[in-house]
This record gives sequence, structure tokens and C-alpha cells, in this order.
Amino acid sequence: MNPTDPNAIIKNDHENVKIMLDAYLDMEFDQKLDQAEKISETLAVHMGMEEEIFYPEVEKLSAGEELISDAIEEHKEIKDHLLTILKTDDEDELDKHMKMMEKVLLHHIKEEESKMLTLSEEKLKNEHAVLAGRMLAYKASNKGKIFFDKLKDKIGI
Ligand SMILES: [Fe+2]
Repeated sequence: MNPTDPNAIIKNDHENVKIMLDAYLDMEFDQKLDQAEKISETLAVHMGMEEEIFYPEVEKLSAGEELISDAIEEHKEIKDHLLTILKTDDEDELDKHMKMMEKVLLHHIKEEESKMLTLSEEKLKNEHAVLAGRMLAYKASNKGKIFFDKLKDKIGI
């Protein structure tokens, strides 16, 4: 992964989550609970990084505003599923919400990669190195963890 390219950082996260979601399907229930928590945390850090660092830069672009409002809406849907996923101890409910969350997520990833990352490649290229540095710093700090904790606070766990 190129550490000076925000698009590469985002795509790398997307690929990692897809691999984790595939692995989930073959797991026993006990492992599924752990895996669902890991996936939730990975997604929370990723969404936090996007919402706090990457999206505000895209939003400043004329074509960016609508893309960002759609993306935030999809993040909200994903977070709603994560809240159920983190709370439940029922396998059917867990599977159901993981599947629904995955559907929204895959759509979101497709839109983000085809539209937002293309726009960023065209219009933010000069800022890419600085932006990528800020994104990696976010991931290395405890900010993503705080973002995840806030999500969990909503359901009191
Ligand atoms: Fe993303």
C-alpha cells in the first residue's frame, strides 16, 4: 500500500474488511461473535477516519457535497446495523444484520471507489501526500478507538 495515497489507504481498508467478512461465513457461533466485533471496530475506525479527515476535504469540492451527504447517510445505516450486531447474542439475528450491513457496505464501497476516489484523484492530487499522512496518523492514534467507543456507548456496552 502506498502510504502517500489516500485512495490506496481507503481501498486497502475495504479489501481487509471484505476478507474479514468472507472469513465470518465459515465460523462457528463463538468465533462469529469475536469476528463481528473485530469487523465493527475496523469499520468504526475506517468511518471515523473518513468522516473526520477525508470527507471534509472532498466536501469542499463542487461535485463533492452530494457524494458526501450520500456517503454519510450510508455510514449511518451501517452504524445502525453495527449497533444491533454488537448487542445481540442470537446467531440468527447476528447473521441477519451482518448480511444486511454487508449489503449496504458493498454498495457504499462501490460508490465510494468509483465516484469519490475518482474525484479525489482528479481534484485533490496535490494534497494527497499530506492528506494520507493525516489519515494514517488518525489510524495510529486512539481517535478511531474513541469513535468506536462512542458507538458502543449508544447501546451501553
Ligand atoms: Fe470507505
